[in-house]
Parts: sequence; structure tokens; C-alpha cells
Amino acid sequence: MTNREKLTVPRFRARKGEGPPLVVLTAYDLASTRAAEAAGVDALLVGDSLANVVLGHETTLAVSMEEMLHHAAAVGRARRRALLVADMPWMSYHVSPEQALTNAARFVREAGADAVKLEGGTRRLPAIRAILDAEIPVMGHIGLTPQSVLPMGGYRVQGRSDDAAKALIDDARALAEAGVFAMVLEGVPGELAGRITEAVPVPTIGIGAGPACDGQVLVYHDLLGMLPDPAAKFVRRYAELFETQVEAIRRWSDDVREGSFPAREETYR
Ligand code: KIV
Repeated sequence: MTNREKLTVPRFRARKGEGPPLVVLTAYDLASTRAAEAAGVDALLVGDSLANVVLGHETTLAVSMEEMLHHAAAVGRARRRALLVADMPWMSYHVSPEQALTNAARFVREAGADAVKLEGGTRRLPAIRAILDAEIPVMGHIGLTPQSVLPMGGYRVQGRSDDAAKALIDDARALAEAGVFAMVLEGVPGELAGRITEAVPVPTIGIGAGPACDGQVLVYHDLLGMLPDPAAKFVRRYAELFETQVEAIRRWSDDVREGSFPAREETYR
């Protein structure tokens, strides 16, 4: 984001087909929000990847509505200009459209979110319509949807066969017709992401979906190398902060152990 104005949902949506690509980054707390905003990202996504990279769970199925709200509210307090999108966790929108709306409204009211994101295609239309009907903008998310890890049998690239590709294009069109203002395309072949991007009038935000999308999203910890685990194929690491942190903590520990920390100037008289 180059100017100082707040990026609203209509302004985000209007960036479809108008370069430069939209920049979306996940954020989970004060420090990640401050850094992402200082770097000028367009939107902050409080992703349910919170489960994996902050709370240490194997899958995103483990994170609760209360945990998501707790972190979304922290991001909401720190956010100044970027659009704030809160991810609806598994089982917060699957029971009924009423449940979906009630939970979406909590992200707006309690965390200051501008929009919510939820996973799935045509099956999720009743929930999406109920949320939109209450004037809460929705970002869709199709392709490799991590909340579907059990029926998918793992994290697999989606849309490889002709039938699967057609089903994803149909899903994307249905979401756009329902009124989502943008959609995440995760884990789909780059060529298919390009076809979906051409087929819908709203921005597509890719992760593991190649360069043809209208924008890109990455998980904060992946981009910055904050964890020692190997990165997925689609991740480009721009820093190795895990090693930087270990080195800093090691130097401080050495200083404590040899008695050189704290020094006189770090001590109150
Ligand atoms: O939870 C998340 O971080 C996400 C992004 C990967 C799109 O949904």
C-alpha cells in the first residue's frame, strides 16, 4: 500500500485487474502486525494457521473460536491502515447459517475485523449468504482447504484432473456470484489459478497457486523463517529469523553466565 489511507473492502476489490498485485500477510499479534504494516502490506489475515505456527497443533482443526478471537483482537488493536480479515475456524460456520453469522459478527464487534474468510465452495453458500446478508464482507477460500485435511487424506494439490479443475472453476464462480469480495486460491496448479482468475470479477489471492493470481498471501512465520522446519515448495523465505533469534539468545546467555550482563549502564542507581 503506497498511500496512507486505510484500505477498505471496496478499494481492495477494485484492485482486480489493476496492478500491482495485492499483498496479504498473516498476522497473529502486536509484533507481527506492526512489522507487516510498517512494510506496507495491503491486508492482514488472522489465519487459522495460528493453530500450527503459534499454538503448535498438527492441523488447523484444533483452533477454537475463542483462540482466534483472542489473536484477532490483538491484531485489531495494532492495525492502522491494512484491511483486516479474520479466518473463521473449523466448526464455527458448519452447523447452520445462524451459527456462521453469529460467529462472523463476533470478529467484527470484538476484534474490529473488516471481513471474515471461510473455506469451501458451493456447499458453504448458505453460510456465506447469511453473513453477507448482515453486511459483513466475506473472503472465500478454495482449492487446498486445510480444514478438509481428513477427507482429502492429507495436504494435496487440488484441481489436477479435468473434472476437479471444472469443479473448482464452478466453485469460484458460485462464490463470486454470491458476493464474496475476494477469494484465496490455495494449492492449485498455476495454469488453473490463471483460468479461475480470468473467470471471476473479484481478486484471487494465491498461496501455492502460481503468479497469475491478483495477489499473493504467505504465512508470516514461513516468509521470515521463524521456525526450523523445512519450507513447502511454494514458500520463499526472505529471512532466517529462527537462527537469528537462537544466536541472539545464545549471546545473551553467554553474557549472563560470564557476568557481563547487566552492565553499569543497564543498571538503575
Ligand atoms: O490460515 C491461514 O494462514 C490461511 C492462509 C494460508 C491463506 O488461510
